Amino acid sequence: MTTTMTHTRTATAAEAATPLLELRHVSRTYRLKRPLPIGPHRIVSALDDVSLRLGDGETLGVIGESGCGKSTLGRIVSGLEAPSSGQVLFSGEDVTRLGKAERKEMRRNIQLIFQDPSASLDPRKTVGRIVGEPFEIHRGLVSPERRRAKVGELLELVGLNPDHADRLPHQFSGGQQQRIGIARGIALEPRLLVCDEAVSALDVSVRAQIVNLLADLQREFGMSYLFIAHDLQIVEHMSDRILTMYLGRVVETGPTREVYENTSHPYTGALLSAAPELRTGRGIEREHVVLSGDPPSPIDPPSGCRFRTRCWMATEICATTVPQPVTIAGRSSGSGRPDDAGSGESAQLGTASAGEDSGTASAGEDSGSASARDASSTASAGTTAAQPAGTHTAACHFAAEVPAALSLTTTAHPTTTPEETR
Ligand SMILES: Nc1ncnc2c1ncn2[C@@H]1O[C@H](COP(=O)(O)OP(=O)(O)O)[C@@H](O)[C@H]1O
Ligand code: SF4
Ligand SMILES: [Mg+2]
Repeated sequence: MTTTMTHTRTATAAEAATPLLELRHVSRTYRLKRPLPIGPHRIVSALDDVSLRLGDGETLGVIGESGCGKSTLGRIVSGLEAPSSGQVLFSGEDVTRLGKAERKEMRRNIQLIFQDPSASLDPRKTVGRIVGEPFEIHRGLVSPERRRAKVGELLELVGLNPDHADRLPHQFSGGQQQRIGIARGIALEPRLLVCDEAVSALDVSVRAQIVNLLADLQREFGMSYLFIAHDLQIVEHMSDRILTMYLGRVVETGPTREVYENTSHPYTGALLSAAPELRTGRGIEREHVVLSGDPPSPIDPPSGCRFRTRCWMATEICATTVPQPVTIAGRSSGSGRPDDAGSGESAQLGTASAGEDSGTASAGEDSGSASARDASSTASAGTTAAQPAGTHTAACHFAAEVPAALSLTTTAHPTTTPEETR
């Protein structure tokens, strides 16, 4: 991969101590129109008390059912929306307090890759213009004379033919369109890419290729990723750490391997058990836990633990006490990425034999050029579900009960519906 991008960077000591991104108790509500001209507005609680940290070069995978607030989180992180309360810190700076120029610089450093590549590319603009657009907004970074060459380099970097810069988006396949979106996303050499279901709309055969491209780019340029996806295998492949969300709240977080193999929260366990490829192997045999009903409405979320209306372990206290997220401790104090845990090896997410289908780009989809993180990890030893005293009051999270809890079968717990328990 040849490029003149320059932003492989080494964190200074101060930066290393400060996470690249930190959210502190972020909540986001939306006020809905009144159904009638009188009466109270209805308030959607899309995010509630979300805190997280993301280090330089690290990937945080975000999982959870549709409607749990993943995209809202992505929009807040990328500065498209402000939180209703709480703080968003980028390199230690509270972004809501930044001046105009500083905010523009912050926006340059955080880019969003969208789910639907065709919808995110203006059909009337050439690919060269689309990819070069960030240089129009952030003038002074690349001189007008250099722009065309720079666009060509970016296209090449994402595996497209630079000679096709004059073509329109519809002349490219879905996977190639997402490569164009990625080229635009990395044009300004951001430090953080928010990938909101960036591969979900792609054919399965192309998905792995784009995932591997993202992994290659991260390795080469040291970007951090907030990686939102519902394909749990891909999230596992990409992420150093995982954050599980339910109805606007974080319920569990920890290093990917530890969370996947020593799941503590019943909701994460249920999500993972629904993915056949994650149910067995690595010494794990997970029963398929079928959650009853749909998530309750975020307009009127359950009191206490929001998961309680679907949780087979709920007790009375769950209705009155808001539990803290379960934090799974890693084996190392490092980033939590598989490399830190000593896996050593690298692997690519399996790419199907089919290449991209339109034939408009010169580059075929390569599957062997680079490596990605080890997705075939072995069971980790010595990991514990860290339960800071007093942070979680519910019975299910007392460490002694966790392993037994997650070996529950679908028939071992009563199925409940939100209506029954609320
Ligand atoms: N602009 C908005 N106005 C009202 N409700 C919204 C808005 N954006 C998101 N929501 C609601 O917030 C919740 C979280 O949405 P979203 O972040 O899109 O979830 P996800 O990406 O996990 O599917 C959903 O109930 C959704 O309907
Ligand atoms: S046991 Fe209670 S607190 Fe824990 S996940 Fe279930 S409902 Fe929530
Ligand atoms: Mg979404």
